Amino acid sequence: MVEKFLEGKGALITGGASGFGRGVAYAFAEQGANLVLVDINQQLLEDTAEKIRKKTGRTVIPLICDVSKSDQVEAMAKQAFKELENVFVLFNNAGIGVSYGRNICRVKEDDWDRIMDVNLKGQWLVAKSLWRKMKAQKFEGEELAGRMINTASTAGMVVDPMIPAYSITKAGIIALTQLLAKSLAPNITVNSIAPGFHVTGVYLDDEEAMRVTMRDGKVKIPQVRIGTVEDVVNVVVFLASPASNYITGHCFPIDGGTADVGVPPHKLKEVEY
Ligand SMILES: NC(=O)c1ccc[n+]([C@@H]2O[C@H](COP(=O)([O-])OP(=O)(O)OC[C@H]3O[C@@H](n4cnc5c(N)ncnc54)[C@H](O)[C@@H]3O)[C@@H](O)[C@H]2O)c1
Repeated sequence: MVEKFLEGKGALITGGASGFGRGVAYAFAEQGANLVLVDINQQLLEDTAEKIRKKTGRTVIPLICDVSKSDQVEAMAKQAFKELENVFVLFNNAGIGVSYGRNICRVKEDDWDRIMDVNLKGQWLVAKSLWRKMKAQKFEGEELAGRMINTASTAGMVVDPMIPAYSITKAGIIALTQLLAKSLAPNITVNSIAPGFHVTGVYLDDEEAMRVTMRDGKVKIPQVRIGTVEDVVNVVVFLASPASNYITGHCFPIDGGTADVGVPPHKLKEVEY
């Protein structure tokens, strides 16, 4: 992989204050990127921005914005292009989880609306606010004008009855990714990631709370360990790098094999090539 492949490039990360967003922010800055970090948690956001600035010496701009609100997203996008010379990578990642354990017939309308607005509409709004300027960018020696990486979930690949509305938002992100990839090719690649079980803010940084949901769902992880933030960061860095130039529209599970979405091997016998 090319050394410091984000030198001279800007990256915008939503949900940048915590969890995957924060981990990716460090990694992108270490690859030479200047950053705009977007979040609603002001204290944590400023804290994260300051720490990354100190550690890497890069420009790190914290912008408060609720990604579910189109007026805030438009203002944020405008500000981001003012602060950075370009936005080469969007890590479209902010998200929430609600009402664990209520089946699809019992989901409350308020919970449905909130999670659709943040997890699904939010990523659409952010992509929509950035694509035009991203597509017009040119970088010397660079095949692409930009890259988008959306955070889905294994719950969007194999829906989880304990988190039905969340699962629908993440299945939606996989579809959104395919649609954006087709619309923005060949200038911008658009891929999604599907993490499995990783201790972050969505589990209130509480490993035991996460393990309770795993036991409830009888989750089995072939790689016999829970995921780390680093596991996710590694794949996002790959998707932001020239090594992934020929990949667009795809969803990458990062789950130690949990999603189990492959065709069962005995079925393969019936396939004619
Ligand atoms: N942790 C996991 O195991 C896991 C698994 C699959 C998918 N995900 C997804 O990963 C993404 C990142 O979450 P995380 O696990 O790092 O959790 P996290 O809570 O640590 O990070 C999410 C960040 O998004 C911010 N945010 C929430 N609502 C927002 C809004 N309306 N506008 C702007 N920012 C907002 C939060 O303040 C927080 O800083 C989410 O989309 C989540 O659904 C997480």
